[in-house]
Amino acid sequence: MKLWSGRFSSDTDALVDELNASITFDKRLYKEDIAGSMAHAKMLGDRGIIEKAEAEKIVAGLRDILKDIEAGKFEFRLQDEDIHMSIETELTKRIGDTGKRLHTARSRNDQVALDFRMYLKSEIEGLRGHVLNLIAVLLDTAKNNTKTIMPAYTHLQRAQPTTFAHYMLAYANMLKRDVTRLEDCLERMDESPLGSGALTGTTYPVDRRSVADALGFARITENSLDGVSDRDYALELLSDLSVLMMHLSRFSEEIILWCSWEFRFVELSDAYSTGSSIMPQKKNPDIAELVRGKTGRVYGSLMGLLTVMKALPLAYNKDMQEDKEQVFDAVDTVKKVLPVFTAMLAAMTVKPENMRKAASEGFINATDCADYLVKKGLPFRDAYTVIGKLIRYCSENGKTLETLSLETYKTFSQLFERDVYTAVSLETCVEQRNVPGGPASQSVRDQMDNIQAFLDSRK
Ligand code: ARG
Repeated sequence: MKLWSGRFSSDTDALVDELNASITFDKRLYKEDIAGSMAHAKMLGDRGIIEKAEAEKIVAGLRDILKDIEAGKFEFRLQDEDIHMSIETELTKRIGDTGKRLHTARSRNDQVALDFRMYLKSEIEGLRGHVLNLIAVLLDTAKNNTKTIMPAYTHLQRAQPTTFAHYMLAYANMLKRDVTRLEDCLERMDESPLGSGALTGTTYPVDRRSVADALGFARITENSLDGVSDRDYALELLSDLSVLMMHLSRFSEEIILWCSWEFRFVELSDAYSTGSSIMPQKKNPDIAELVRGKTGRVYGSLMGLLTVMKALPLAYNKDMQEDKEQVFDAVDTVKKVLPVFTAMLAAMTVKPENMRKAASEGFINATDCADYLVKKGLPFRDAYTVIGKLIRYCSENGKTLETLSLETYKTFSQLFERDVYTAVSLETCVEQRNVPGGPASQSVRDQMDNIQAFLDSRK
């Protein structure tokens, strides 16, 4: 019999039960649901809303149920509809009528809002830890590659030289913002909605703050309609996870390119590559491809939940039960992806000679050659034109800026001297970019210090 069957004269259709029930997926909220119920029952006892002895009996009963669930000895049944009714029904079965007092001054609407926030708060902690581990690996990779010169690209065309350390620190900074986004999200969702009741609060003299304290919430929600109605905290998390996955997906795309025979900038370890069933020579970067592919799933969850919420009148509507699977799937996906991605990077071999070779072809030092003339007094726009002509000459005559004779240089501008060769050497190009944020060794050292300080501050 359903907990709400009193008003009904016939049973629900079996197909309705199946569609209506969320127990198959919200059972994973059991821990939060029980913790919330324990805190609620204690508060009811403390406030004299139920007898203290009854509250104690309820808490003991819930503790037993928790133990059984964790031991795999609890049956979640479809007819109990959701995790909230499943546990309440079992409690009454175990401790008798006292169990029926637990739901005083509470609704499943504030209960589920509470459980979901608690669950997400703890998931955010875990996700944040995974991102921090990835940043630490990026920092290590950067430390080992401060002298590894590589081309940086715009439009996927070789643009200017940089170092692999500088490149890794770019991703470290993106991920650092992902960490702070997760922290902001957690901070905003850190409010207990319990006491909002079904939607307009409760007539009982509850103590919302003590329940919030007991459950580790910083605050209580300020409006009961809002407390049960919004899922913006879940949307915010999905949006943060989408941005994080976008970063990982771009990184994956680069790794896939770098593994290709055309680049050969890196080689993935066998443990993080897969083979082909037909082409014996293949070593495929499947993990990076899967990370790129799974990004679509996480975006899908965000779009899905935004769409569920977009036209719902206040307060609770059953549509909102659709929040959980989307969020669970996104959280599970990111949790699965991050450690593998991190381990893959840690085991990746960098090929400095190939990176350098790619940086030496394609006039990546053309800007520096123009800057050389500027330093000798020529306005930048004129210098730019001279170097443009010079580059055309070089490409037509199979030369590079490093191999062109000084004599030929001088036919383009009398300002060229022997020191032009130092000016266009890749080491000089990198080292001269000592602006904060640039690839010069001092700039990179500062960036590494900042990332290290960030990691230390999060320990
Ligand atoms: N299983 C429901 C959900 O996840 C719990 C809240 C049900 N509330 C209600 N008024 N039917 O949304």
